[in-house]
Amino acid sequence: MAAYPTHSGRVAIITGAAGGLGRHFAPALAAAGCDIAIADLAPADEVVAQVEALGRRAYSEICDLSDAEQVTGFANRVLAHFGRCDILVNNAAFMPLIPLSELSLAQFRKFEAINVEAPLLLAQALAPSMLKHGYGRIVQITSSTVGSPMPGFLSYVTTKMAGIGLVRALAAELSDKGIMVNGLSPGLTKTAESEKNLPPALFEAVKGKQLIKRTEVPTDLCGALLFLTSESCNFITGQNLNCDGGHLF
Ligand SMILES: NC(=O)c1ccc[n+]([C@@H]2O[C@H](COP(=O)([O-])OP(=O)(O)OC[C@H]3O[C@@H](n4cnc5c(N)ncnc54)[C@H](O)[C@@H]3O)[C@@H](O)[C@H]2O)c1
Repeated sequence: MAAYPTHSGRVAIITGAAGGLGRHFAPALAAAGCDIAIADLAPADEVVAQVEALGRRAYSEICDLSDAEQVTGFANRVLAHFGRCDILVNNAAFMPLIPLSELSLAQFRKFEAINVEAPLLLAQALAPSMLKHGYGRIVQITSSTVGSPMPGFLSYVTTKMAGIGLVRALAAELSDKGIMVNGLSPGLTKTAESEKNLPPALFEAVKGKQLIKRTEVPTDLCGALLFLTSESCNFITGQNLNCDGGHLF
């Protein structure tokens, strides 16, 4: 039986890969054969070193995704550096908890800029390269919170839901030309950052709502991301894949 093709020779952008989940996504895609470009507010030196140790090329920029000019500039510099981009993983997100009574319009617009506008601008800047090569995979990292919002999550859930709308609308424009666009929806996942910032009781509560009674870890998501960004994912588009231990209620 012929081996299924995967990622050999592909170039992948992952936003927000200096920390959190993105720090795990970058080496997973590099190990599958991708060169990696990272945009993050924080330096991504450690992740760059990991990618290079896997024999792949890496490019990273300090980039504020809430600034449209920086977003488009980053995409164009990645295209100039690698000559192409095949995979876009919109992973970075703005996610502080702010209740309705305290939310300002300026704050809400920051959620929109990072969680919705940056993914749109990146897709717009990178689609011509993907179309030229007849191949593209765009993955929007969404969130299981859209199915079960909690107080304080108003701007996060609203913009994460908009991200699912973006997936469906981009898929309608691009899928027939070889670009698959899908969402990947994690449940509450233990990373160095989430473990430090969130109360243990929240992890226990979410675990209780999952069919699989353990806390999600980043490697639970890597396999799904590898599939959605691979050549094997060539007839699935416009979907949002829940990878959350079966968070059904
Ligand atoms: N960790 C979870 O439990 C969980 C659950 C559901 C969904 N998600 C989603 O997964 C994705 C990653 O989450 P995470 O937990 O790794 O988050 P995180 O906060 O740990 O990491 C996010 C990364 O994005 C970067 N970033 C933030 N704002 C930026 C900006 N304006 N410009 C450039 N970079 C910026 C940060 O510097 C950081 O490296 C997000 O889309 C989040 O909504 C995470």
